[in-house]
Amino acid sequence: MSSTLLEVRDIRIYYYTLTGVVRAVDGVSFSLRDGEVLGVAGESGCGKSTLGYGLLGLIPPPGRIAGGSIVLDRVDLTKLRPAELRRVRWAKVSMVFQGAMNALNPVYTVGHQLAEPLVIHKGMDVREALEIAAEVLKRVGLTPDILRRYPHELSGGMKQRVMIAMALLLKPRLVIADEPTTALDVVIQAQIMNLFKEIKERERNAMIFITHDLSLIAEIADKTSIMYAGKIVEIGSSDDVFNSPAHPYTQGLLRSIPRLRGREKITWIPGVPPDLRAPPPGCRFHPRCPYAMDICRTEEPPTVDLGREHLVSCWLYAKR
Ligand SMILES: Nc1ncnc2c1ncn2[C@@H]1O[C@H](COP(=O)(O)OP(=O)(O)O)[C@@H](O)[C@H]1O
Ligand code: SF4
Ligand SMILES: [Mg+2]
Repeated sequence: MSSTLLEVRDIRIYYYTLTGVVRAVDGVSFSLRDGEVLGVAGESGCGKSTLGYGLLGLIPPPGRIAGGSIVLDRVDLTKLRPAELRRVRWAKVSMVFQGAMNALNPVYTVGHQLAEPLVIHKGMDVREALEIAAEVLKRVGLTPDILRRYPHELSGGMKQRVMIAMALLLKPRLVIADEPTTALDVVIQAQIMNLFKEIKERERNAMIFITHDLSLIAEIADKTSIMYAGKIVEIGSSDDVFNSPAHPYTQGLLRSIPRLRGREKITWIPGVPPDLRAPPPGCRFHPRCPYAMDICRTEEPPTVDLGREHLVSCWLYAKR
């Protein structure tokens, strides 16, 4: 079995806003092995992007890490100074940002934008950097002539491929992809999903695949984690989470995915996720949970190991 690449312990990332502290990520722990793909799912606003930014040390103000550790390849990223963090970023961990297709700089060619990090991080000369850039473009299904093009000359799918090329450029051990297909139409979305599957097989880097769409996670992830209101409420092998979902929230999410076959009715989880400036006490899901008990309203549920590294945070599974 491959070794542990990433160990996240009790990480808390808060936004200190004028109207209160938004506890966007509030005590999240998980680990990832080399080459493993972890899916992170949950409704909009539950802290998925914030977690991704946190792993890259790029939390937008007024956010900051309020506690916990992120150990990547034996180095705690939360302890690094900004200059040290810049060396790790892109070289060891990279990210395809949510809506990033439009983050390409319109005034520079794709070649310029791909070569720049190689010149800066690896000290390559421009010709060498462009050769590597052409090779990386090939790995994401684009031809080298793209190097001379400007972002406005590319389709949405092509731009997203360039963003993925950028994330792969310095051969990082961990790639984070935040809603990488959400802004694309369904046909292109399927093509980009196929590209991610190819990358998973070929590049063998670990990946954190963030999406609100559980069906995409089922396609690609070895492990699945479900976030609710700043916390991971369930995590395990994708097999276990999809076939034996334990948390009432996971069960609700899975029932809300339309199916091609089967007679199961599609239902939606009633209510909305809480305001993270003042989350409900006890289990944060209790106002929406059909099984809520008295203890759920006052005490935070323990994390219970159901076996095979399948963990769930819910009072239903606690031995009392
Ligand atoms: N820059 C910011 N300033 C203040 N609050 C923020 C900021 N970015 C995100 N948040 C809040 O943090 C919470 C988590 O957001 P986010 O990480 O974007 O969730 P997701 O990616 O799951 O939709 C939300 O309540 C959101 O409003
Ligand atoms: S701890 Fe209680 S409220 Fe929370 S999910 Fe479990 S049963 Fe529902
Ligand atoms: Mg997001």
